[in-house]
Amino acid sequence: MNQTEHNKKLFIETVGCQMNVLDSELVVAALRQDGYELTDNHKLADTILFNTCSVRERAEEKIYSQLGRFKYSKQTRPNLVIGVMGCMAQKDQKLIFQRAPHVDLVVGTGQLAEIPRLVGEVRNNRDRQLAVSLGRRDGSRTEVSQSFQSYDPLRDPEMRPSPYQAYVRIMIGCDKFCTYCVVPMTRGPEQSRPPSEIYREVVALKDQGVQEITLLGQTVNSYKHTENGKQSRLADLLELIHDVDGIKRIKFVTSYPKDMTVDLLQALRDLPKVAHYLHVPLQHGCDEMLKRMKRGYTVADYREMMARIREIVPGCSISSDFIVGFCGETEQAHQKSMELVRECRFKNSFIFKYSERSGTRAAANFPDDVPDEVKKRRNNEMLDLQNAISAEDNADFIGREVEVLV
Ligand code: SAH
Ligand code: SF4
Ligand code: F3S
Repeated sequence: MNQTEHNKKLFIETVGCQMNVLDSELVVAALRQDGYELTDNHKLADTILFNTCSVRERAEEKIYSQLGRFKYSKQTRPNLVIGVMGCMAQKDQKLIFQRAPHVDLVVGTGQLAEIPRLVGEVRNNRDRQLAVSLGRRDGSRTEVSQSFQSYDPLRDPEMRPSPYQAYVRIMIGCDKFCTYCVVPMTRGPEQSRPPSEIYREVVALKDQGVQEITLLGQTVNSYKHTENGKQSRLADLLELIHDVDGIKRIKFVTSYPKDMTVDLLQALRDLPKVAHYLHVPLQHGCDEMLKRMKRGYTVADYREMMARIREIVPGCSISSDFIVGFCGETEQAHQKSMELVRECRFKNSFIFKYSERSGTRAAANFPDDVPDEVKKRRNNEMLDLQNAISAEDNADFIGREVEVLV
């Protein structure tokens, strides 16, 4: 084979949140239009992509160690193209080439549309390619926003794990700047997609046989878009999509506690296709910690929100995320988080040990002072508590009849 001939087989590894799952689906669909075929065996592939996450250090370390495994592959497979895309690409940029010199391609979350062209470029010229967006302080808001392009091309039904379920992005980015979090840097400014575009995508998905739609956004209920002089919020969007015949169920993740408005909850109550499920992370049960995290609400605000949900949508399932071992977390503060887990009786909680991320305000301002063994113990304690609550809750379903989508 000469340099440009290759078998067009693509292997992709995806870690991180639902946004990444969707991004991978879209990138694979675009490469398939370019003649690529997907393989689940990296040894057969001539193009290997890693869709990465930066939210915790461990997620990054895993990718770097996987990349390390391909260090010598190019000696025997000169046509191999190795690319890193997604959040770690945006965060680490050139550093990836330094840490893994055999990587050919680094593509941030805002440049995914360019991947087919960039892969071709590498293959034809053996030139390294770097495509990333501006940093949050590297230009005006408009310039930075424009450098993060929402990537939502036509959907390819064959790329979805289930033909009946699909993700639809309604917004990109985040402006909340919780002090521990890299997402505002890796995904850029908060930008909502126009309702007309979202509607068209949902109709196209319905035509492909999709019955369940999950709307995605980092703070999905902060959705706000003005089109033809009319402002739409998430409640309006739910109503719009609800009218699409053939769509049977609608969900949305992840919600931000402060934006859980009455009209959104009423939409949940009044639109039968909308699942009675909310993922609305509390993160911590102590006001001092919440303030230090800059979450923008107090425990009392969260309690009020819980009461509002339970009043308007009785029986609604609520799940949460928690961080244990955040900077300055005392045993007492941790116990307050435990109390809230007990009190709120979440359906489920995702519990994370705090991981310091460079570039965040927490990394700059507060020492990461809770020892790892303590983080581990607090994590396990909370997990045990949540598991016990979930088990009790699940036991309630024994003998009940519910509608499921198979
Ligand atoms: N946009 C979502 C969450 C995105 S990240 C939201 O605001 O809820 C998913 C979860 O990872 C967060 O809810 C948080 O619990 C956790 N997380 C984020 N940054 C973290 C860090 N530096 N260390 C540990 N956990 C973190
Ligand atoms: Fe991160 Fe906070 Fe934005 Fe969620 S709301 S993505 S935790 S900055
Ligand atoms: Fe990770 Fe990026 Fe999602 S940092 S959690 S993949 S937005």
